[in-house]
Amino acid sequence: MTRKLLVTSALPYANGSIHLGHLVEYIQTDIWVRFQKMQGHTVHYVCADDTHGTPIMLRAEKEGITPEALIEKVHAEHSQDFAEFLVEFDNYYSTNSEENRQLSGNIYRALKANGKIATKTIEQYFDPVKNMFLPDRFIKGECPKCKAKDQYGDNCEVCGATYSPTDLVNPYSAVSGATPIRKETEHYFFKLSECADFLRDWTRSGTLQAEAANKMSEWVGEAGENKLSDWDISRDAPYFGFEIPDAPGKYFYVWLDAPIGYMASFKNLCSKIGLDFDEYWKKNSTTELYHFIGKDILYFHALFWPATLEYSGHRTPTNVFAHGFLTVNGEKMSKSRGTFITARSYLEHVKNPEYLRYYYAAKLNGSMEDIDLNLEDFVARVNSDLVGKYINIASRTAGFIAKKFENKVISAQHAVIDDMRAAAPAIAEAYAARDFARALREIMKLTDAANGYVAEKAPWVVAKDESKTAELHTICSNALEMFRLLTIYLKPVLPNIAEAVEAFLNIQPLLWTDVALGLRAQTIQPYAHMVTRLEGKQIEAMVEANKESLQATTSTPHSQAHHAQSQQAATEVAAVEHISIDDFTKVDLRIAKIVSAEHVEGAEKLLKLLLDIGEEKPRQVFAGIKSAYDPATLVGRQTVMVANLAPRKMKFGMSEGMVLAASDERGGPYILSPDAGAHPGMRVK
Ligand code: MSP
Ligand code: ZN
Repeated sequence: MTRKLLVTSALPYANGSIHLGHLVEYIQTDIWVRFQKMQGHTVHYVCADDTHGTPIMLRAEKEGITPEALIEKVHAEHSQDFAEFLVEFDNYYSTNSEENRQLSGNIYRALKANGKIATKTIEQYFDPVKNMFLPDRFIKGECPKCKAKDQYGDNCEVCGATYSPTDLVNPYSAVSGATPIRKETEHYFFKLSECADFLRDWTRSGTLQAEAANKMSEWVGEAGENKLSDWDISRDAPYFGFEIPDAPGKYFYVWLDAPIGYMASFKNLCSKIGLDFDEYWKKNSTTELYHFIGKDILYFHALFWPATLEYSGHRTPTNVFAHGFLTVNGEKMSKSRGTFITARSYLEHVKNPEYLRYYYAAKLNGSMEDIDLNLEDFVARVNSDLVGKYINIASRTAGFIAKKFENKVISAQHAVIDDMRAAAPAIAEAYAARDFARALREIMKLTDAANGYVAEKAPWVVAKDESKTAELHTICSNALEMFRLLTIYLKPVLPNIAEAVEAFLNIQPLLWTDVALGLRAQTIQPYAHMVTRLEGKQIEAMVEANKESLQATTSTPHSQAHHAQSQQAATEVAAVEHISIDDFTKVDLRIAKIVSAEHVEGAEKLLKLLLDIGEEKPRQVFAGIKSAYDPATLVGRQTVMVANLAPRKMKFGMSEGMVLAASDERGGPYILSPDAGAHPGMRVK
């Protein structure tokens, strides 16, 4: 029986670039989908941009464009990034679609008819200047516990206290700076509190990952515990989203229509290729539905989403697969370390997407553990496994087939080949369980065996003996059959290489059933090299490029496009990555008086500055501001420098700090000046 699977990845927000963290998810899903398709199942893989909500509305406003224009631009960028990483969606749509509007409205009406919608008047902060209610993360103020300034509306990053925005002391709007007022408003709620029994059953159906099921039990609680509160699903205008039916001025909260976006993308696919939408979404559907998500959004997918589906008359997910977060070199991705790497910058510097696909696959084991991209290990692993082991099997034997046998292979047979065939079920099982790490360990064991065979038979020695031509033909044909089998096993991870191998071997696109069939006696194509070594230099350049956008004074914009893109990444980090006051105070900023400024022989962008910060001897600093300043005009001016940056040896001498300056595509760099009264050495904090 062929299975019918509908698979999704989480819908990325339409206000930021795709980065290597996101790709953990999309690459993981894509590998699984390709594997399932190779099994001959019917699989539809859909996704979309998540386009609604306040941050996107404000971001568009800031850029001076409509939200529709913003999400259209981002949709094009995201689609391009995914395509280049070989993430092959059957449909990549948008939550701001007509299908989604209809489905969201219908689901809401069904929930309402089922008595699952309530309204309640609540009090919320309102920005009297912007005329809008403020989401928690757009309200700041002093922590009610420790009085730390500039804390967000839900928790204090200094003392860790959690509270509600109305507890903040001296609150202000992060949008306009105005003091928000408290205002009553009517909100719509989904009565999640009435769904506990259903959710408890759903959790215990046994399909969830153990870690996820534990979390769920914690959230849902035991019968009678009443741990779930109702879910606030409405937002007041102005809001970029769908207006709630029969509730003028009220909009669906983005997380209500986002998962319905999975359905909407599929519905759109149905109309394109003629599928039966209801077959996949009706109650008791016999098709399978899988959601791949990050652990941060488990709450939405394991509580709200199944409850929404259940009480609106739809099927529930077959499974939700949550994964952990990406770390780079053992730490959270960081802009200052250059490890907050966008998909685009990886493609510019490393180019080959299959290196990353292979590395992620080697790390993913189907659990919710975080996965680490260790950049040194990345280079070593890719070179050793892909180039040194796998490709090596073909590159050491294919030449003889061309030179001595007019590109003809003969049918192959050997114990190593038998072992390889016998491994197929175990490898398939590991892929199906999303334990790609185990699948690749098995495959690499077989690769070692194949290389052992080639080394032992030493075709390059046999080739010298005219009497052993038949033996040479057998060795090389056997090796290429081993190579073909390994290619089948690696194909979900390395689709481009597999395609090149299919062309080289003159065969149809490989399916899992081709394991049993074997390479026939036939003519193949001349061998051309399929992967090159990854150089450490490429990684260094990528990390440097991702560092640049923060350090205005040392930035060397390669091109307008690249620069604009890193700016966008920087904006995004500012939005997602908060630092604590302790992190900030680590940076020792000082008022510095420029005692001298001069050109540096041979340096295109740098000026050499001597800076008085109240120390015995002025500091020598090289600053990338030559394009904007005549050194003579700088002498005597005061500015701001980072005084505790580790001294850096440069081509022209030691640099003992960094001067701050502003820049973006509109111009710069512009250095800073303190107000009158500041003295050299004063701390800026
Ligand atoms: N828009 C929501 C999802 C709505 S689904 C109906 C969202 N978007 S996101 O852009 O922030 O993240 C998209 C997916 O990428 C999420 O599953 C998230 O967990 C994953 N990742 C984002 N950053 C990640 C890492 N650094 N590491 C691993 N996965 C990460 O959430
Ligand atoms: Zn505090």
